[in-house]
Amino acid sequence: MKIDVLLGLQWGDEGKGKIVDVLSPKYDVVARFQGGPNAGHTIEFDGKKFVLHTIPSGVFNPGCLNLIGNGVIIDPLILQSEIKKLNHSGIDITKNLFISRKAHLILPTHRLVDAAQEAAKGAEKIGSTLKGIGPTYTDKSARNGIRIGDSCLDDFQKRYQTQRERHLKLVSSLGFDYTDYAIDGRDFAAYETEWFEALEGIKKLQLVDSEYFINEQLVAGKRILAEGAQGTLLDVDFGSYPFVTSSNTTAAGVCSGLGVAPGAIGKVYGIFKAYCTRVGSGPFTTELFDQEGELMRKQGNEFGSTTGRPRRCGWLDLPALRYAVMLNGVSELIMMKADVMDTFKTIKVATAYRYKGEEITHLPFDASTQNLEPVFHELKGWNTSIEQIRAEEDMPAALIDYISFIEDYVQVPVRIVSTGPDRIQLINRSV
Ligand code: IMP
Repeated sequence: MKIDVLLGLQWGDEGKGKIVDVLSPKYDVVARFQGGPNAGHTIEFDGKKFVLHTIPSGVFNPGCLNLIGNGVIIDPLILQSEIKKLNHSGIDITKNLFISRKAHLILPTHRLVDAAQEAAKGAEKIGSTLKGIGPTYTDKSARNGIRIGDSCLDDFQKRYQTQRERHLKLVSSLGFDYTDYAIDGRDFAAYETEWFEALEGIKKLQLVDSEYFINEQLVAGKRILAEGAQGTLLDVDFGSYPFVTSSNTTAAGVCSGLGVAPGAIGKVYGIFKAYCTRVGSGPFTTELFDQEGELMRKQGNEFGSTTGRPRRCGWLDLPALRYAVMLNGVSELIMMKADVMDTFKTIKVATAYRYKGEEITHLPFDASTQNLEPVFHELKGWNTSIEQIRAEEDMPAALIDYISFIEDYVQVPVRIVSTGPDRIQLINRSV
């Protein structure tokens, strides 16, 4: 058996949660391999809406085991609040959620370091979700990190205090007054107390040596789906650095984030929106600052599911999509939020960039909003509601043309078209 991978091809928020939820009945295990509570995976069904930050999106399928892999970083308090919300809706995760002992902990002081470092950057800030992601991955690489398994060892308190002190010194050296700073609505002392209480609860869940767990599942012939967070253009190596997250969001991250060999990777599902969005800072070549961008934001409800921030909106960027397809070895595409384009008379897609007097179709090393200008191709909009369409043969001709244009450019078939937030709003294509 192989591990299939599902990941975002843009700057995150492509709609991965919905598709993992839809695909999960085909899988025995869903595993998160990177990122942390900076993610917000939204799933809607039966008139209910759930937003998951750390828990894999297979949790709504009772037959599915869910693994938080070693590459993920965990804030126990955020994880506990997700678990409580699921419990309130009658979903008990105690039997089907597994957590890697090697997953690193986001400490309360990582949240302060994140806020202090972002504030110190001023206008150059990354636009982080301020969930402590950068500082936690930094400590992991610098070999200062504390893993969830470490919290069960005798020297945990000592190690915690050492890191706490180090972080507080760093925060004060940046001139950041944390006594004035609220972490998710609480002052630092209250957050820290609740964090420790939550950690005790998390330690009672099923902590596993996840690299053995996942490989045993593979050997037993179980079908596994690796669920990516954020998106390819936020990858720490290949994204628009430094305006990226701190993990490998690409398919390569599956191997290190779960402990599986490259040969174990099977299908790679690449998810993209029919247009582009981005939260936070960084280059966005096809960004719109006019009424069309406003319309996309409104129709697509483009506000961050983790931070509530309005998302930047723009046309689909095909050279960037082809780059993401190349990096991930995408075998099937899934196009999300096609319905958001329902009212557009014409739709533009970038097919190249103008860069230093030349027309190019690759992303240059120093890509920035100042030196890259999109070259657009214009297509006819379908200009009708597609929210109720479920069958391929009912798709309007202009939508088929739009999809064919994308397929010709990136040379990978679009298998699923999503036409609304509910799990049933999908068109499966036979291509
Ligand atoms: P961080 O990962 O919270 O440090 O944020 C780094 C950058 O990635 C910022 O621009 C964030 O807005 C962006 N980002 C992080 N996680 C997500 C996500 O799940 N969806 C979309 N953007 C994200």
